[in-house]
This record gives sequence, structure tokens and C-alpha cells, in this order.
Amino acid sequence: MIRPMLLALPLALAVGVTAHADHLKENPVDVLMRVIEEVPDSPYLLQSEQNLMMMEDNPNLWTVEDGKDLFYAARGPNNVSLETCDFGKGPGELEGAYAEMPRYFEDTGRVMDLEARLVHCMMEIQGFAADDPAVRQRHGSGSDHMKLQSYIASWSNGIPWNPPMDHPLERAMRDAGEYIFYRRAGSLDMSCQTCHYETGKRIRASVLPNSRVPQEWTKAISWPAFRVGHDHSRSSQHRIRGCYWQMRQAGPVAGSDGTIALISFWTDLARGQPAILPDMKR
Ligand code: HEC
Repeated sequence: MIRPMLLALPLALAVGVTAHADHLKENPVDVLMRVIEEVPDSPYLLQSEQNLMMMEDNPNLWTVEDGKDLFYAARGPNNVSLETCDFGKGPGELEGAYAEMPRYFEDTGRVMDLEARLVHCMMEIQGFAADDPAVRQRHGSGSDHMKLQSYIASWSNGIPWNPPMDHPLERAMRDAGEYIFYRRAGSLDMSCQTCHYETGKRIRASVLPNSRVPQEWTKAISWPAFRVGHDHSRSSQHRIRGCYWQMRQAGPVAGSDGTIALISFWTDLARGQPAILPDMKR
């Protein structure tokens, strides 16, 4: 019953989203519908009809807009914008850049995710100190980080995930992430696999995404996303922290190589599927 109604949605929603983020070439809900058409029985993707209907009014679209203003504003002690920041495709080139992260950056000699790269540019280019709230506050829709990350990421909406694996460190980080993903530990002896390796597995009412179904996994890893239950936009780093809490394991160090390795592996699992940005989660 639910399916014919859902497939009619993109038509009904053909107008609207671009009023807020006019650089989006495709409505994120249309990207999601394309993915659903490939796996029309996915319990994870179809768990909330209401969620799909609300995507048109995703509050993260405002966060994206705020991020655009911040990105081009002259800020920090050096009073310059972020337009010379290279996210992997050249200075200021944002289109598709996030879909190819994490990646190795020559200037730092590190594999960086979006958050690490943004911190780097805010400090090196704009001159912010590590303890400045602009750099330090990573969470919540009101933080500079969520605004900027949401804006930069939205330029990869509809673009297939394609993190490069050319540099040996990129492959090493992906492999380390794979090890961390499957490593069971803690008093519950759980790994990420415990909850994300079967289709239709639930915790209470939440259907969990299966990491082996790329169509489910692309939605799962499409962050920043607005989390309705939190009434805030959240990042990949925030999601990792949440799942370590779910496993009752020690919290990972935010922004550490371990978290970036996990993001390398989880992005590799969704390779080829379009990013849905901004997304909306439960
Ligand atoms: C005990 C079960 C459990 C384990 C183990 C677990 N997660 Fe999760 N994960 C969840 C739940 C539940 C959600 C849905 C969000 C919520 O309602 O809190 C989720 C959501 C996610 C999402 C986003 C999908 C969404 O719809 O929100 C990703 C990505 C993810 N987990 C990755 C991981 C990774 C990586 C690990 C290992 C470090 C992991 N998870 C371990 C339960 C788990």
C-alpha cells in the first residue's frame, strides 16, 4: 500500500527545495527515491513515510544556507573567507568534493575527513585558534561547523560516493576502518556488524541499515543530516560517537585517525551510490 504512494511523491514535490539551496541540482528526496526504486522492499529506507514527506522541508536546508554565508564571509584573525580551501578538487571547488572524502592531502600528509579538513583550513587560512568556538564547537545546528559542513557536503548531493584509493595511506585507512568495524569488544562483545549486517534488524521501532546493501548504506552515511529526534543537524563524527555508546564501548576520540578510518571504510561500502545531502534521519 505504502509503495505506490511513495513513488508518487517526487512528482508532488517537484517544486520547493531550490528556494533554499539553489545550488542543489536535484532535490535530495528525488535522489532518495531513485535509490528506493532499486530496492523497493528495503525495510530501512521505507520505515517512515512521514520522514520522506518531511524531507521537502528539511530544516538542514536552512543550515546549508547559513553555511553558504559563513563560507564566503571574511572571518577569523586573518579576515579571509574559505574560498582558497582545497577539499580535494582544488581551492574553493566544492562540487563532488565531499563524495570523494576521506582522501589523502599532500599539504598535511594525512588522510582527512570533511571535519578534519575544515578544521585545518579554519586554522591555517583564517587563523582561528584550536580553542576558538568556531573550531571547537562541532555539534548542533547553531554551530559554525554544522553550518559549514552542511553547505560543503550539499554540493555532493546526487553524486556517487567515490573515495579515492590511489594513495597507500588511503588504502591503509580504509583497511584499518574495516578492522575497527568488525572488531568485537566491550562488555557486550559487540562490533558494528552486530547491528548493521542484516536487512530489517530493529532496535525497538528503529530499523537499522544493512551495511552490505549499498542502497541502504548510502542513506545511512549521508551526513550531515537533520535528526528529527534531536531537533538538530548532526555529523558523521557525531554518529560514530552515538554507535560506540550503543555498543557500550569507550567513546572514540573525536576527529582521531580511528574515526576517519571508520568513515573511509563506511564510505567505501557505499561506493557508486548517490549521496543524499542533506538527509533527514529519525
Ligand atoms: C547495538 C546496535 C548498534 C551497533 C553495534 C552499532 N550501531 Fe550504528 N546504529 C544503531 C542504531 C539504533 C542506529 C539508528 C539511530 C538511532 O535511532 O539511534 C544506528 C545508526 C547508524 C548509522 C546511521 C543510520 C541512521 O539511520 O541513523 C550509521 C552510519 C551507523 N549506525 C554506523 C555504525 C558503526 C560504524 C558502528 C560501529 C562503530 C555501529 N553503527 C554500531 C545501532 C547500532
